[in-house]
Amino acid sequence: MKKIKKAIIPAAGLGTRFLPETKAMPKEMLPVVDTPAIQLIVEEAKASGITDILIIIGKGKRAIEDHFDSNTELELNLAEKHKDKMLEAVQKTNGLNIYFKRQAHPNGLGDAVHTAKSFVGDDPFVIMLGDDLMQSDVPLTKQLIDSYEQTSASTLAVMRVPHEETSKYGVINPTKEISDGLYDVTSFVEKPAPEDAPSDLAIIGRYLLTPKIFEILENTKPGKGNEIQLTDAIDTLNKTDKVYAHEFKGSRFDTGNKFSWLKTNIEFGLKHPEVSEQLKSYIKELAEKINTDEK
Ligand code: UTP
Repeated sequence: MKKIKKAIIPAAGLGTRFLPETKAMPKEMLPVVDTPAIQLIVEEAKASGITDILIIIGKGKRAIEDHFDSNTELELNLAEKHKDKMLEAVQKTNGLNIYFKRQAHPNGLGDAVHTAKSFVGDDPFVIMLGDDLMQSDVPLTKQLIDSYEQTSASTLAVMRVPHEETSKYGVINPTKEISDGLYDVTSFVEKPAPEDAPSDLAIIGRYLLTPKIFEILENTKPGKGNEIQLTDAIDTLNKTDKVYAHEFKGSRFDTGNKFSWLKTNIEFGLKHPEVSEQLKSYIKELAEKINTDEK
């Protein structure tokens, strides 16, 4: 069996939930303490054995290209000044082949993925959403690759979400749990209202798919929000080729909306060696102040 080496990172969306910040700055470049969210995703890819990454960009997304461009002048400067930690930080994603492709219009995730057809070729590949961070001992992308090596089938990552939030996600209708956390699926439904949701298992930002998805995307009509929905294409794929769902049991951080991004920064900040102590004291003081003010 061929090893999975390719990943695509769709990052061409408009990021409207984060306006006005996203007028000129890609939401995928928003910092998590000191690192852009998309770099953490590229690091997960590297830790999972991925060697080639295609990042789908669009208008106003040039900062992403610049971020992954090599910066010899900066690296030389840091090396001369023996700023080893900083040098290590800027070299973390070195050694990967990173390519860029433009999605002409943000017509939906399915359309963004379709632009990667020639990059992917005949091999299975992974999709990693540019604003969705995962933390676990074994990286989630590696978990999907391990599962593929057992089943040879497309597999999506899912996670339990509060029932009232199903309308924000693609949701699966699981038939049975065939092994620990691996589900057989009858259907995949994009953003169902809670009363119509077949389960609380929502698709999160990691997918492992076979290239057959591209033929299907070519014939997928616009769905919810008048966009080409990847979930709809996956539901069609599942009718002829098995698509499993793998339940993720680690922590997920969605950096694409304001509140969730703030929480992400607090949680990552509490673990960051340079700021954790200060942040802890600050949060305690702030909590006391809020308590006093509320009395
Ligand atoms: P989202 O739905 O979270 O991103 O898509 P969005 O459309 O930018 O956000 P809002 O709803 O307007 O706030 C998940 C990922 O898919 C990419 C986004 O950049 C994001 O990383 N995406 C989405 C594309 O690449 N192209 C699209 O047409 C839509």
